[in-house]
Amino acid sequence: MKVIAHPDKLNKALKGLKHRGANIGFVPTMGALHLGHLSLIKQAVRDNKIVVVSIFVNPAQFGPKEDLHKYPRPLKRDLALCKAAGVDLVFCPQQKSMYLPGFATYVEVNGMSNLLCGAARPGHFRAVATVVAKLLNIVRPDLLYLGQKDAQQAMIIKKMVRDLNFPVKVKVVPTVRQIDGLALSSRNAYLTSAEKIKALVLVKALLLAKSLIVHGQRDAGRIIRRMKELINKKQQVKIDYVAIVDLAELKPVKKINQPCLIALAVYIGKTRLIDNGIVNYV
Ligand code: PAJ
Repeated sequence: MKVIAHPDKLNKALKGLKHRGANIGFVPTMGALHLGHLSLIKQAVRDNKIVVVSIFVNPAQFGPKEDLHKYPRPLKRDLALCKAAGVDLVFCPQQKSMYLPGFATYVEVNGMSNLLCGAARPGHFRAVATVVAKLLNIVRPDLLYLGQKDAQQAMIIKKMVRDLNFPVKVKVVPTVRQIDGLALSSRNAYLTSAEKIKALVLVKALLLAKSLIVHGQRDAGRIIRRMKELINKKQQVKIDYVAIVDLAELKPVKKINQPCLIALAVYIGKTRLIDNGIVNYV
């Protein structure tokens, strides 16, 4: 496995391989790899001759009061996990080689980027779309792997790929959870053991919504109210949003009469966690 820090060097290394007709799978990450990331990486290893993983904690996508500085960066461990999983190339650029002095070009996916997580995190999805566009131009993969855990991010990137004709196919991989249901996230590392138990309220709220729907409830407002009641029973837990939205534009639905996304963001103490589920019952 090769570890490359400079975009030009990666580009060069990949050009040679592409020339020999190898198809390339790409998994962008911010490191602190867990079984969620590894499920994307393993899928990429199954599907492609060459697999590239990027590890870059993109400062631009963190708000001024967010956790950029404490975000975990266990690079040695990450590299060992990539190697064991069969990754061919790890791209871990420095900030200065990704954002040259005078950097001024951004990708903005209008509409969707200001909803749900975008409402609480202004500029976040512009920064995500921009860095993923840059990474796609550097790696030029055939297949791009994203997690359903970040459903809004996956939808925004898919839209960018379609709107800007990036020659890549996007694969969205299901959310990996702990045995108790908590969705794996690098941010779970911030939780105390008491908070880890409280954090189960996210998946419990999703399960409540699904069970209400299975039993015939179709009124999105009522489902959201029940989810909020359940979450608000916990102490030191604060809801950012609970939403039921359509899968095309992430706009709120009133009635569940089409496949939709149930998404929520909740602060467990100081840690903001997100989760979601797709409902196909109509
Ligand atoms: P990061 O949070 O490191 O996530 C990298 C990829 O792993 C994303 O596609 C995310 O959806 C996926 N992922 C995270 N937890 C998962 C889980 N429990 N199950 C399945 N997939 C999971 O998302 C980012 O980094 C960044 O925004 C990035 C796209 C790299 C741009 O900077």
